[in-house]
Amino acid sequence: MDKVVALAKRRGFVFPGSEIYGGLKGTWDLGPLGVALNNNIKREWWRYFVENREDMYGLDAAILMNAKVWEASGHTGAGFSDPLVEDVKTGERYRADHLLKDAGVEADGLSLAEIDEIITDKKLLSPNGNPLSPARQFNLMFETTIGATAGPDGKVYLRPETAQGIFVNFKNVMDSMSPKLPFGIAQIGKAFRNEIAPREWLFRVREFEQMEIEYFVKEAEWEGEFEKLRTDIWGWFDHLGLKRDNIKEYDVPENDLAHYSKRTIDFEYNFPGKGFDELAGFAYRTDHDLKGHMTHSGTSLEYIEPDGSRFIPHVLEPSFGVGRAFTALLCEAYTEDEMGGEIRTYLKLPSYLAPYRVAVSPLLKNKPELVAKAREVFAILKKQFGNVAFDDNGNIGKRYRRQDEIGTPYCVVIDFETLGQEKPELKDTVTVRHRDTGEQERIAILELVSYLK
Ligand code: GAP
Repeated sequence: MDKVVALAKRRGFVFPGSEIYGGLKGTWDLGPLGVALNNNIKREWWRYFVENREDMYGLDAAILMNAKVWEASGHTGAGFSDPLVEDVKTGERYRADHLLKDAGVEADGLSLAEIDEIITDKKLLSPNGNPLSPARQFNLMFETTIGATAGPDGKVYLRPETAQGIFVNFKNVMDSMSPKLPFGIAQIGKAFRNEIAPREWLFRVREFEQMEIEYFVKEAEWEGEFEKLRTDIWGWFDHLGLKRDNIKEYDVPENDLAHYSKRTIDFEYNFPGKGFDELAGFAYRTDHDLKGHMTHSGTSLEYIEPDGSRFIPHVLEPSFGVGRAFTALLCEAYTEDEMGGEIRTYLKLPSYLAPYRVAVSPLLKNKPELVAKAREVFAILKKQFGNVAFDDNGNIGKRYRRQDEIGTPYCVVIDFETLGQEKPELKDTVTVRHRDTGEQERIAILELVSYLK
C-alpha cells in the first residue's frame, strides 16, 4: 500500500488536500492523472449500469437539500451517528468501536452503555495512554447555514449520501419518464461525512464521491431482483479488472445493519496491508425512504399500476464509493517484474481505464523530421481517443519506464523507418510497444486507430 500511495503522489494521481498549508485531515486532491482515472471509472460505471440497460434512469441532484429531507430519512437521528470517545487529557477524539476492535473486542452493534462497560472492565486507554471519556453519539453530517437566514430556518446539511437526492426526485422521474417497475435511478456525486477518524488514504475520508442506484421493485419481488443485481455487481468488478479472489461478500449481521436496511451485503476488497474491507454496499432499504418522504412532505410517492392499484415500491441499493474503487484498482494494477535485468514497476490497468490510452514519441527529440511525423501521428490519435500523451522527455527507455509506471498500455514510436529512410517497405509504419510484455510490433499508421481501439 505504501508503494501505491508513493507512486500516486510522485506521478500526479493523488495529493494531500491543502498540502501547502499543512493539509486538511480527511481530504485528498486528484492530480492530472488521478482525475483522468477517476473520470474513467465513473464513465465506465455509467455505461455499465445506465447506458447499457433499459431499466435505468440518470439523475444529478443538488448537494444542498431542504433540511427536512434528513429528518425524513432518519439521518439527523442516532441512526447516522458513530460512538465517540475523547482522550480526557488531549481532547483528541476517537471512534469507540474502532478502539474496541483494535483491542480485539467485537464492537458491532454495541450500545453506549455496553461500550463504557467494556472500556472500564478492560481498562482501555487512548492511544496516548490517557483515560477516555464516556462514549456519546456523534452525528456525521456537516451542517452549514444557507444565505443570510440565521437560526434553524437557514440550517442545511452537506448530503452524506447521494441516495436521498434520488428518493426526493422519484415522483419527478415517474411523471416525466413513466418508467415501469422494476427500474432504477442512478446518480454519481459528492457526499460528505464528518468522520471522527478519517484514515487509510482514500478509504475513510470526509469528502468523497459515490455512484449509487436506487432500484425500485414490488415488495414481493425484492429477493429475485436482489439476486440479479448481485450478479451485475460482480460483473462490474470484473469490468474494473479486480480479481474475484480479492473480493468477498459479507452479510452484515442484523445488529449492525444501517437504520434503513433489512438486509445488506458488503462487497469487501482485500486491500494490501489492511485485509478485506468494504469496497461497496448493497442494501435492501425496504420502503423506508419513500414512506418517510411521503409522510414528511405530504406528497404521494406511490407507484400506480395500469389497473389503478397503488403502492409504495421497495428499494434495492447498490452503492459504490469512487475513491475505494480507485484505491482497489491501483492496488490490483500495481505490478513489479524484471525487464532488461532491472526491476520495473507498472500499472496493469485496462486500456479503457488508464489515464492515457497511448503515448506517442519521436525516437529522438532533436531530429525535426521525426518530431514533425510524431506530431502528425499524435494529432490523429488525439482526435480519436483524447487521452493521448506526447512524450519526448529523456531517452526512449526512460519514457517506457515512465509510461509503464502510470499504466499507459501502448507507446507508439516514430523512428527513421517510419520516414522510409532505412527500409522503404516500412515507410509510414510505427513501433507499438506493449506495456505488460515489453513486446514491440510494426503497425501501419493507417491501421493504428483500429489497432488501439
Ligand atoms: N446510500 C448508502 C450508503 O451511503 P454506505 O455503506 O454508508 O451506504 C456506501 O456508503 C459506499 O460509500 C461505501 O461502500 C464506500 O465505498 C463509500 N464510503 C462511505 N463512507 C465513506 C468515507 N468516509 N470515505 C470514503 N468512502 C466512503
